[in-house]
Amino acid sequence: TDGVLVDRYGRVARDLRVSLTDKCNLRCTYCMPAEGLPWLAGPQLLDDDEIVRLIRVAVHRLGVTEVRFTGGEPLIRPGLARIVGAVAALEPRPRISLTTNGIGLDRLAPTLRAAGLDRVNVSLDTLDPARFAALTRRDRHADVLAGMAGAAAAGLAPVKLNAVLMRGVNDDEAPALLRFALAHGYELRFIEQMPLDAQHGWDRSTMVVADEILAALRAEFTLTADPGERGAAPAETWLVDGGPARVGVIASVTRPFCGDCDRTRLTADGQVRNCLFATEESDLRAALRAGADDEELARRWRAAMWGKRAGHGIDDPTFLQPARPMSAIGG
Ligand code: GTP
Ligand code: 5AD
Ligand code: SF4
Repeated sequence: TDGVLVDRYGRVARDLRVSLTDKCNLRCTYCMPAEGLPWLAGPQLLDDDEIVRLIRVAVHRLGVTEVRFTGGEPLIRPGLARIVGAVAALEPRPRISLTTNGIGLDRLAPTLRAAGLDRVNVSLDTLDPARFAALTRRDRHADVLAGMAGAAAAGLAPVKLNAVLMRGVNDDEAPALLRFALAHGYELRFIEQMPLDAQHGWDRSTMVVADEILAALRAEFTLTADPGERGAAPAETWLVDGGPARVGVIASVTRPFCGDCDRTRLTADGQVRNCLFATEESDLRAALRAGADDEELARRWRAAMWGKRAGHGIDDPTFLQPARPMSAIGG
């Protein structure tokens, strides 16, 4: 590669997160209103070939080594397996992963595995079907559990689980979620909620923080430092009861990891974002559709990353939530 994605602080982006759609088949209260959002229109979306082309530019010219597909909900994109297959055929082959709510994964996992998918992260905020229905506004808890099991059976290992705890909703479930993950061999991570919801309802004073989650877990489990390398991973991990099982906490708010960030993002409508909390995007779709060649696309991508901010700025008095919600950026 002839020029990686480096920013003015010296961070190099090797991990590309690609949102394949802004739509979702759930309506998690911490993410979207019940009626959904004004979705991107068909012509605004990159088509499958455009997505593969931009990923190829990232891998061949920009030094990207990891590609993660996100949404919205990426499993609802019809071309997903085709896209995964095309990315797996790139040289050098990037590692390929998916972040999903799990619905339909039991059926799709073998196809995706065969196409070249390496790993999946599945969201699971509660073990209680009634709570799940209230939280996601859809009665699909059993489908999610089936999806996780199907992923593990298809060899998409390790299956990681993401749980967002919310005050008065599921904040009593940390130990039970960990027991469940241990019993099934899934790697659980708790995520601090960030100000990225479409309704702008995030409230620092009620947010469930890492220290509180760890204290709840320590009432039932012994957590010790994980000797493994953290690198640029957002999760800080602990060994559970001596290991080898682990549990993680993604403490974006109370223990920011922006200094080690190695991410670049592509939205479903072809905009490069240099940060989840970026206030500016770079329009690669327009350049691509105007006939730009690969090197021109690479040049624009490098320019977009150079301006990446030092940190998310959630603690600044002047912090403003980005215009796009998490579901349109890709989690
Ligand atoms: P692996 O550890 O490689 O499995 O991936 P991951 O944890 O990055 O992926 P996943 O999509 O499961 O993301 C889990 C959570 O990490 C998201 O819900 C976010 O809360 C958080 N996260 C992901 N990317 C970023 C980021 O760039 N910045 C911050 N602050 N948080 C992020
Ligand atoms: N803060 C933190 N995590 C969030 N997720 C969705 N919205 C938020 C938010 N505001 C999580 C989902 C999913 C992951 C990709 O992002 O629960 O597990
Ligand atoms: Fe990196 Fe931005 Fe995420 Fe911070 S918020 S870790 S700077 S992408």
